[in-house]
Amino acid sequence: MTTNTQPEVNIGLVGHVDHGKTTLVQALSGEWTDQHSEEMKRGISIRLGYADATFRQCPEGEVPDAYTVDETCGEHDTETDVLRTVSFVDAPGHETLMATMLSGAAIMDGAVLVVSANEDVPQAQTEEHLMALDIIGIDNIVVAQNKIDLVDAEQARENYQQIQEFVEGTVAEDAPIVPISAGQGVNMDLLIDAVEREIPTPDRDPDADAEMLVARSFDINRPGTTWDSLLGGVLGGSLVEGELEADDEIQLRPGREVEEGGQSEWQPVETTVRSLQAGGDTVETATPGGLLGVGTGLDPAITKGDALAGQVAGPPGTLPPTHEQFTMDVDLLDRIVGENASDVEEISTGEPLMMTIGTATTVGSVTSARGGEAEVALQRPVCAREGAKIAINRRLGGRWRLIGIGTLRE
Ligand code: GTP
Repeated sequence: MTTNTQPEVNIGLVGHVDHGKTTLVQALSGEWTDQHSEEMKRGISIRLGYADATFRQCPEGEVPDAYTVDETCGEHDTETDVLRTVSFVDAPGHETLMATMLSGAAIMDGAVLVVSANEDVPQAQTEEHLMALDIIGIDNIVVAQNKIDLVDAEQARENYQQIQEFVEGTVAEDAPIVPISAGQGVNMDLLIDAVEREIPTPDRDPDADAEMLVARSFDINRPGTTWDSLLGGVLGGSLVEGELEADDEIQLRPGREVEEGGQSEWQPVETTVRSLQAGGDTVETATPGGLLGVGTGLDPAITKGDALAGQVAGPPGTLPPTHEQFTMDVDLLDRIVGENASDVEEISTGEPLMMTIGTATTVGSVTSARGGEAEVALQRPVCAREGAKIAINRRLGGRWRLIGIGTLRE
């Protein structure tokens, strides 16, 4: 048992628009990231919403009834024991934000799929988000059958059956389905129980080099700040491995595009960690899991407006290589799921694709495509290891649609 409040695991909240993801996070954490007043946290949360929730256990009761998010329990206001703090990563349900969902998925250790009990299953993004989890290889899943307060027992059972049929043969086949009402706070103990069992904190190598996936970057200075009180650029994202400490030297890749003698080239950026924010507090050492804010010595002009989003940060010399083009093995879906479902055609030379690798989203043009592999030239380079998973999207009917998964070749 720990009293550490730094989140240790990232749990994605996925599901169709309005099925209750935000309400569920509110029920579990008593807050939502958008409400943080502080600029740095707010800025980080908008695109990849995060909120931390501490799961606790009442020492007097039996599991699962004893699970709670309250600090006290029972008649005598007994203090509850902390189980662990988890970080929820909100995936916007809106279809056009699928790229955000995919880049969020890169830092999810598991996911809760929220499904409304009062609508037919599956709705478009229920299907699309589950497919994305499947493609990215997230198989620690809990299904929350939400809004049970809006249906009668018979409807709830029918809907439950529809969910069971829908997940059959998918990555969520064995996922527990927990009937809840996020709005009324019903069955939160059962949901915590399911999450505790299905989404364990991953084993991490404490000696691994730090590797942070940068999801956002900003300039936190107010307009008109004079140079002598200017704060360095801030990076927001999550550590997938290792630890970061204040004063650590870090490198960012791909870094910046630099013009030299009429030629442009991407060069890594190096800086020092000045401050760290995790679990809502300033910390000396940041560990994997949850949202991390890293104050750096970088000129804020470099970090402004998410300019470094999608990059990878870690000790100099340890990061994966930068690719301006690459070859990937391609595994196409049979059909595009969700709205306007259709068969997936082969990738053809010359077509543009949008690819998500880690937290990076980049558009590339196919320079060669043949039987199960494609070579692409990227508009913006990415930093990634051989074997990295690439979510491949094609433009169809004016929108990017997920068509398959790629694996980066050397
Ligand atoms: P997006 O972020 O837009 O994808 O939506 P969301 O999935 O976060 O849904 P949100 O939590 O905003 O809930 C949508 C609506 O459903 C809101 O009006 C909520 O008040 C309502 N709602 C959520 N959970 C419940 C529930 O358990 N019961 C009832 N009756 N209403 C709920």
